[in-house]
Parts: sequence; C-alpha cells; structure tokens
Amino acid sequence: MLEDLCQSSTSVSLLVAIVGLLVFHHFYSSLSPQETRREPPGPTRLPLLGNLLQVDLKRLDRSLFDLSKQYGPVFTVYFGLQKVVVLAGYRTVKQALVNHAEEFGDREVTPSFIDVNNGHGIILSNGNSWKEMRRFALTALKHFGMGKRITEGKIIEECHYLIEELEQQKGKAFNNSQTISYAASNVIASMVFGKRYEYGDPVLQTLVDKDHEAIHLLATAPILIYNTFPWMGPFIQTLAYVKRIVGENKDLLKSIIADLKETLNPEMHRCFVDLFLTRKINVEESEIKDSHYHDENLVSSVLDLFAAGTDTTASTIQWCLLFMAKYPQIQDQVQEELSRVVGSRQVLLEDRKNLPYTDAVIHETQRMANISPMAFPHQTSRDITFQGYFIKKGTTVFPLLTSVLYDESEWESPHTFNPSHFLDEEGKFIRREAFLPFSAGRRVCLGESLAKMELFLFLTSLLQCFRFTPPPGVTEEELDLTPVVGLAVSPTSHELCAVSRQ
Ligand code: HEM
Repeated sequence: MLEDLCQSSTSVSLLVAIVGLLVFHHFYSSLSPQETRREPPGPTRLPLLGNLLQVDLKRLDRSLFDLSKQYGPVFTVYFGLQKVVVLAGYRTVKQALVNHAEEFGDREVTPSFIDVNNGHGIILSNGNSWKEMRRFALTALKHFGMGKRITEGKIIEECHYLIEELEQQKGKAFNNSQTISYAASNVIASMVFGKRYEYGDPVLQTLVDKDHEAIHLLATAPILIYNTFPWMGPFIQTLAYVKRIVGENKDLLKSIIADLKETLNPEMHRCFVDLFLTRKINVEESEIKDSHYHDENLVSSVLDLFAAGTDTTASTIQWCLLFMAKYPQIQDQVQEELSRVVGSRQVLLEDRKNLPYTDAVIHETQRMANISPMAFPHQTSRDITFQGYFIKKGTTVFPLLTSVLYDESEWESPHTFNPSHFLDEEGKFIRREAFLPFSAGRRVCLGESLAKMELFLFLTSLLQCFRFTPPPGVTEEELDLTPVVGLAVSPTSHELCAVSRQ
C-alpha cells in the first residue's frame, strides 16, 4: 500500500516535471532570440547616426552619466553603427571589471588607435602580445624601482629641479602646465632610458608636447567621427596630423633606442630599454617562434609608458595646485600639517601615514579631477550575460569612471571638493572603495604605484615651498575649474603665482 502510494506519487512528480519541461521549452522557443538574450536597454537610435545627436561629444562622459539615470547601470548607445555598452556606478563597474575581469578585460582597438599603434605595445593591444608586454613592463619597472626606495630618490631629485624652475618665476603669475609635464615625464625617462633631461632640452620638449597634443586630438570630434565612419579617414585632416606627430615621436624614440643599443651591456642593465633589448637577443638566440620581443613592441611600449605616465600625473598635480589656490583654507590646513609634522626637511614616503589631511586632499583631488573619465574603451572577450543582459563577444564597453567617482550613493557630497570624504571623525585617513581613478581589474593602470608616489612627493614638496595663489587682480571665485576633455581631463589653461614660503 505504502509502496503503491510511493509509486503513484513518483509518477505524478515525473508527469509534473515532464509537463513543466514542455511548458518551459514551448515558452522559450516562442520567444525571439532578442527576448531570450535580453540586450541592455538604451535610447532609441536614428538610422546611420545611432544616438550621436543625443550626446554631447565634447563632454561624452557627462552625457552618458545622465543617460544612466534614465536607462540604468548597464545600457546601450550607438555611435553611428557602432554599438557601445556603458557600465555606470561603482557597484556595476566593479562587478564587471573585477568579478568578470576576463570577459570585460579586452581593449577596444579603434581605427584611430590602429593607425597610431597597430595593435602593439601595452595600452592598445590584446591577446598574448598584450599579456607578455604588460607582464614584462611591470617586472622591468619594479626592477628599476617602481614602488621602491630608488624611485623615491629619483622623484625627490626631480622635485628639486621643479622647485628651482618655479623659484625662477619669483612669485609672478605663470602657466605651470609644461614645466610640470616635463618633471613627470623625466620620472618615466629615468626608468625607461636611465636618464633625465633638462627642461629646455628639445628632445624632452618634443616628446612631451607632441604626446600631449596627440592625446588631446585623439578624443576630439573629428577622430570620433572617423572611428564611427572609418571610410571618411582620407578626408579628416586631424587624423593625418595625429599620424604625423605620433610618427615623429616614434622616430625620436627609435634614435634614443639605437643609441642605447650601441652601448648595451647585457651584464649591466641601465633601464627598461636595456632589459627589453637583452630579452630580445635571448629570444632570438633560442630561436623562439612568434616572439613578442620585436622592435615595434619596444617602441610602442616606450611610447605608451610616456603617454600614459606623463599627462595623467601632470594633470593631477596641476588640478591640485588649482584647487589649493581656489580653496585657500584647505591649502592653509595642508601647509599647517606639513609644517607641524615634517618641518623644513624633505618629505619622504614614510611621512604619508602621519599626514592624513594632506593625503585626503590628494585623494580628493584625484576624485574630483577624474582625469580618465571613461578609462580607455574596453571590449568583451567572450559572450556574457551580465546583470541579466546578454552582451556579445567583441562589444565595445565604456566603464564610466565619472559615474564611480561621482556616484551619489557612495560619496556624501560628490560634486564638492571635500577632503572629509577620506577622513574619519577623528581626522584619520580612510580608504574608500569607490575611489577608482586608476580603474580596476585586468586593465587596471600599470603605473598606479608609481603615480601615487609621484603625486605625494611632488605635491608635498611644492606645497612645503610655495603658497599657490590666483594672479593679481583675479579672485579665488574667478579661478576657472572648467575641464578640457581629451583622453585625459586637464584644467583649462590658466596662470597661478607660486609665492615662496621661505
Ligand atoms: C595620476 C596618474 C594616473 C592615472 C589617474 C592613471 C589612470 C589610468 C587608467 C584609468 C587607465 C585605464 C584602465 C582601464 O582601461 O580600465 C590606465 C592605464 C594604463 N596606465 Fe595609468 N594612470 C596614471 C599614471 C600612470 C603612470 C605613471 C604610468 C606609467 C608607468 C601609467 C601606465 C599605464 C598603462 C601602461 C596603462 C595601460 C594598461 C593596460 O592596458 O593593460 N599610468 N591608467
């Protein structure tokens, strides 16, 4: 009896399961492929133009941030025919880049990027070449001191040259942009070439100035239009110009590399280039096929380190000095802390833990300055269903860092310069999860630890020596915080006075 009951209840369960499966199958097979693979929502697009007319190309990150409030944290926009999935807000960006690092970790290599780097180097490459170049660059930079004492010494030496340069202005108003870029670039030069350059040296000036111009132009409307409609390439003058100046910088790098090659001693490496050349020789001798250690990868990697390591750091320093001039009470507090804790001796990295307010000001500068508002475009490396949406392999993805650094659910006053974001009630420094100016995951900034050292040492050394003020006749309120948006966001061209505190 009991057995009968069991048998009949098993048959009923089996029947229910089969009917369930049939209903499930019928339901899904009656859905269109789009419904089974629900794609992220987005604004209605026009034929050919997509959503180009609904966004402000001059401040794309802000437009996309606004759209995210309407369409949610994962949405689609079309630039012409090109589909882009935008990730917005701290939780979504982190979930994608960290929890799904592999799927969201490829780089979108746009037509203009192919024109300048042909898929070589670190920033604009993918696959095994990217893996090998990134791993090599990290090892080489660590070998030459990234994150260690030797680099601290090199940065401090550069701080002294920068301070000398600012002293020569004798407190008069001047535009510090180029000088600061030369100083930041010299830190990279000392690791990559084993030497620094005088600020008046045409080699340094050409490298930095042309890089700066190319980085700015690569994010302007004509190039965005070219990336959307590549057939328009021959008609876009900006493209020809960018290709020319990048080409000139590559020629310059090739001649520096050739000089280093002539004096190469594989037993004693002076710099990144020496290590690369030695690895290249070893690989050639062992007859390894398809090696990634070739001249194009060397030139492109060096170009990448200069491009990624100069404007980013220099812009952040400039932003901080501008914020200090705009908010003199905050500058007072930084200088009071520096005088009390360090006095007049050279600031060292180990002082950071005793300078919580200064550290908070530097972090808040990075948050507000938001110098890389959309990181560099990513691409999905395989099909993925993310937050219930299907995203196909090869889709361009913008991790919207603006929406992380200004996320209203993470920051108490996202649109105000407020060092308290990084301080607890007792004034101790606190880390914030949503502080992601270096992005996250597989493509996280390779120079993060170097950049942090540079920002701390440059800024503390400068603020120890100088008081930064608006030019005579300009009030603090009149200082313009409108950003100039390129691949990196820098302040509008401006002048400040660096008044000696001695
Ligand atoms: C304040 C300074 C800096 C900021 C805010 C910054 C930020 C970033 C961001 C947002 C990315 C893109 C990450 C992504 O695509 O998700 C990036 C990539 C990169 N950064 Fe930085 N960066 C800084 C300084 C540096 C320095 C000093 C170096 C040089 C050593 C450097 C080297 C790189 C490289 C090589 C990449 C490409 C990584 C890859 O594609 O695998 N950066 N950086």
